Amino acid sequence: MHLSTSLLALLLSSLHSSFAAADAKPPPKPCTILSPSTGSFFDLRSLQLTPEGTKYQAASNESYHAKGYDYPANFTLNFCGPVVESLEDVEGVPTSRQKNVSAFYKDQRGDIYSIGQQNDQLLFRGKKLLLNYTMGSPCPELDEDGNPIDDDFVVKKTSKRRKSTLMTFACDTSPLLSNRPIVNFLGSPDHCTYVFEIRSRSACGGTTQSEEKGTLGPGAVFGLIAAIALLVYLIGGIVYQRNVLHQRGWRQLPNYTMWAGIHSFFSDMFVILFSSCTQRMPGGVTQLFAGRRGYHRVGTDERHPGRGRTPDDENRLIDQLDEEWED
Ligand SMILES: *[C@@H]1O[C@H](CO)[C@@H](O)[C@H](O)[C@H]1NC(C)=O
Ligand SMILES: *[C@@H]1O[C@H](CO)[C@@H](O)[C@H](O)[C@H]1NC(C)=O
Ligand SMILES: *[C@@H]1O[C@H](CO)[C@@H](O)[C@H](O)[C@H]1NC(C)=O
Ligand SMILES: *[C@@H]1O[C@H](CO)[C@@H](O)[C@H](O)[C@H]1NC(C)=O
Repeated sequence: MHLSTSLLALLLSSLHSSFAAADAKPPPKPCTILSPSTGSFFDLRSLQLTPEGTKYQAASNESYHAKGYDYPANFTLNFCGPVVESLEDVEGVPTSRQKNVSAFYKDQRGDIYSIGQQNDQLLFRGKKLLLNYTMGSPCPELDEDGNPIDDDFVVKKTSKRRKSTLMTFACDTSPLLSNRPIVNFLGSPDHCTYVFEIRSRSACGGTTQSEEKGTLGPGAVFGLIAAIALLVYLIGGIVYQRNVLHQRGWRQLPNYTMWAGIHSFFSDMFVILFSSCTQRMPGGVTQLFAGRRGYHRVGTDERHPGRGRTPDDENRLIDQLDEEWED
């Protein structure tokens, strides 16, 4: 069984190497992450809304909304990219950065406050998938009760802190969420940091890197089936040859005589070609075709009897090969 096990090992290793080539790791794409604890792959690109639409998401000119409940504002946000609404006059955010606001709210007076700039770097803390936005509008000063002091009454705007957003993503396979995620506002302890929970199907980890890469193409599937068929043929044939026909050594291989015949045919051809190639080119090649009809004196140059094989050697070799071929 030594022969068959080594053959099996060879086949398995070639199978393995072809698979290793298929899942060579690409650099992490924005808005995707591999869980360090479970190894699952998370792809939130399907959640990102764009005015033009992506291959994951239809075009949209309205970002996601979250109700503020007791907080005096409702929120608008997008994931991994800026909101699709075009904003003007965002409090304390320079015009150059207004394009990149990823989350905002409007207060009762209609003023727009950014709660963070675009970020597509996902983050894992333990088993929690997180995304944060930073560098929003300046945070308000708070009075003794923790309520924001209205900007109009603040004499000096000394605050260096800026509003930021922390989002936690939870897997939810509810059929209601097949298209859009649910965005829940959890709270803002200091009117400076805003915390959300997003429930979505996209937050359920997958095993593959992504749709386009992880699955096997039709060629690879065919190759896999062919390799398995070959394996079954070899193992089944070896078991049969060994246990039923009691063959040993190379003869355990199924259809050994046929394969040996093919092998000797090719080595025959190789010897003919090689011996003619060692002669002068291209004279050797023309001699090859001239000599094939007679099937002897192939590749011998009679003008140079010292070089190459002697005609006798050649004939002996061909006779020997003929015998093998007849087997
Ligand atoms: C949003 O898109 C719809 C069509 O998809 C269009 O009718 C509507 O005017 C757009 N709204 C804005 C604010 O651009
Ligand atoms: C938030 O939205 C709800 C409706 O969804 C509305 O009744 C409420 O007035 C809004 N709050 C603010 C501060 O705009
Ligand atoms: C802001 O958005 C532009 C495209 O609109 C992008 O090229 C740039 O990298 C973004 N800047 C940051 C800090 O995300
Ligand atoms: C925000 O996310 C970045 C990665 O995008 C991470 O390095 C940073 O620690 C996060 N900050 C907080 C406060 O979670």
